[in-house]
Amino acid sequence: MCGIVGFTGSQEAAPILLDGLKKLEYRGYDSAGIAVVDGAQINLSKVTGRIAGLCEKTQDGRAVPGVTGIGHTRWATHGAPSDTNAHPHLSNDGRFAVVHNGIIENYMSLREELTARGYRFESQTDTEVIVHLLEMYYAGDVRKAVIRTSARLRGSYALGVVCADAPDRLYVAREASPLIVGVGVGENFFASDVTALVAHTRSAIYLDDGEFAEISPEEICVFDVAGRPVQKKISRITWDIQAAEKSGYEHFMLKEIMEQPRAVKATIEPRIHGREIRLDDADWTAEDLKKIRSVVITACGSAYYAGCAGRYAIEQLLRIPVHVELASELRYADPIIDDATLVIVLSQSGETADTIAALRECQRRGAKALAIVNVVGSTIAKIADWVLYTWAGPEIAVATTKGYTTQVCLLYLFALYAAKRLGRIDDKQYNSLLDTVLSLPKLIQKTLDMNPGIPKLAAQYHSHEAVFFIGRNTDCAVCLEGALKLKEISYLHAEAYAAGELKHGTIALIDEHRLVVALCCNEKLMEKTMSNILEVKARGAEVLAVTFRENSKIVSLADEMVYVPKVPAILSAAVEIIPLQLFAYYVAKENGCDIDKPKNLAKSVTVE
Ligand code: M6R
Repeated sequence: MCGIVGFTGSQEAAPILLDGLKKLEYRGYDSAGIAVVDGAQINLSKVTGRIAGLCEKTQDGRAVPGVTGIGHTRWATHGAPSDTNAHPHLSNDGRFAVVHNGIIENYMSLREELTARGYRFESQTDTEVIVHLLEMYYAGDVRKAVIRTSARLRGSYALGVVCADAPDRLYVAREASPLIVGVGVGENFFASDVTALVAHTRSAIYLDDGEFAEISPEEICVFDVAGRPVQKKISRITWDIQAAEKSGYEHFMLKEIMEQPRAVKATIEPRIHGREIRLDDADWTAEDLKKIRSVVITACGSAYYAGCAGRYAIEQLLRIPVHVELASELRYADPIIDDATLVIVLSQSGETADTIAALRECQRRGAKALAIVNVVGSTIAKIADWVLYTWAGPEIAVATTKGYTTQVCLLYLFALYAAKRLGRIDDKQYNSLLDTVLSLPKLIQKTLDMNPGIPKLAAQYHSHEAVFFIGRNTDCAVCLEGALKLKEISYLHAEAYAAGELKHGTIALIDEHRLVVALCCNEKLMEKTMSNILEVKARGAEVLAVTFRENSKIVSLADEMVYVPKVPAILSAAVEIIPLQLFAYYVAKENGCDIDKPKNLAKSVTVE
C-alpha cells in the first residue's frame, strides 16, 4: 500500500526522498512522486510506474532542487494509476503540497463543497480534498490550517504537508495510519515505515492517532488537536540496514526464506528460561488465563493461515474451543464474543485495516486481545491489550515467509505456556514438546538443507495448469498457506483441499494436467492421505509428496518426493511449510514473475 516520506535539513531533499521511496517499494505501488520546496515555490515530479522512472525523470533528484520535501508511493484506491492521480497533490495557489496514506471516507461531500467554493480539482483521488482544505483554512499559520483541515476529515490518514511560506518545515498528522518521525542531527525525517528511515537515523518518535508534528531541521514539535504540545518518547529502531537489504540474494523472498532459522530463534529463545516459558511482555495474570473459555484467532491472508496452523496446538493442549476467523468476515459477523473469550490477532505489519477493525469489534464486545505482531509500535500493537512481538526483523517481500513461521511459533509457545500455567499438561509431555519447540530453528535449517532438488521440481512442474494441495488436519492447515504462496507469486491456479473432501466434488477437476502436492506429515492420518493419493493418481494427476524419510510406503505411490524432518503433528507447520515456500519461489522464478512485488498485491493492506 502507499508509503510516505519527508525530509528537511541542509542536504538536497530529492535524492533522500527517492532513496526513502525505494525502501518502501516492497509495500506495493503503482505510481510515485515527490514535491520539494525551492524558495517560494514547490516543484513537483510524478510518474506512473516504478521509482526508477521517477529517478530518470528527475535525474536522480538533481532536477528538483531544495532542502525540504515530501514523497509518496501510491497504490490506487480512488482513481486509476496515473501521473495526475499520483501524489503529491498541489493546492490551486501552488502554496501547499500533500502526501497521504489512508482513505478519506467523506471526500465526496468535501469535494462538492470545495468545488462549490471555486476550488479546481485535477485528480480523482480522495486525497486532493486535503490540499484544497489547507488552502481554504490557511491564514498565515500552517499549524492551524493543518489542525482545521484534519478536523474535517473522516477515515484514516497519515499526512505529510509542505508549504511554500514555511520552506524549511514539514507538517504531519496521523489518524489510524502509521507515521514515524525520524530524529536526526540538523536534519529530520518522517516516514510511514521505519525501513525508509534506518539509513539515516535509529531514533524515532512514533506518533499516535490525533497527533500532529511540525518538523524543522533543528526541532520536532508534537502537538494535539488543540495545538497543545505533547511530550513524546524517542525510541530506538533496532532493525539494521543489512536486514532491510538483499545481502547477495536475488530476491528478498529467498533471503527471508533462508533467514527463518534465525528469525524463529529470535522469536522463541529469549522467551525460554531453563525449562520455563516466560511471556512477560504480555503481562498475564493467572486470573486472565483461568477466565478463558474459548479462543478466537483472527487475521487476514497468511496470518489467518498461521492461525489455522497454530489452532491445533492450542486446542489440543488447552482443550478449549478455538475458532479461526477471517478478520474481514468477523468484523461484520455479529460474533459471539465476550469477556471469557481470548482474541488472538495475528499481523506481520500490524496495520491491516480489516484486522484492526475486527480487533476493535472484539474489544467492544468485552474480549481482551493478544496481538502477535512483527512491526514494533504498529497500530495493532498499540490497540491490543497484550502484545507479543515476533522479532523476525523487517519483512520486505510482499509474500510473507518468516512472518508466517514466526507467528506459528509464537502460537506454539502460547499454547505450551498456557497449558503449563493452567495445569493442563503433564511434565513429560511439556518437556518433550518444549524440546521440539527449542529445536525448531535447527529443524527448519535442516529442512532447507535437505531440499536442494526443489528448483528442479519447479522446472518440471511450472507449466501445469493447476496445483492442488491436499492434506488432513495439521497438514491441511499448511496446504492453505502453501497454495497461497504459489498463487500469489507465480500466478498459477493453486487450491488447498482437505484430502478427505476431494471426493465431494473437486476430484472432478483432477486429470493429467494437474499437479497434486500431498502433505503426509501427520503420522496418525498418513494412511488416509495415502489413499487419497491413489485416488488422484488413478485420474492421471502427478503427485509430489511431502513427508518424512521414515515413511517409506509412500515412495511407490508418488511421482516425486520432498522430505522434511519428523516433528510432532501439532508443531509441524513451521517445518512443513518450508519446502512449499521454496517450491513457490522457484516456480515463480521459472515463470519470470516479479517475485518480491507480485502484480496487484501490496505488502500492507491498509484499506478495507
Ligand atoms: O501484515 P499482515 O500479516 O496483517 O498481512 C496479512 C495479509 O495481507 C498477508 O499475510 C498477505 O496474505 C500476504 N500477501 C501473504 O503472503
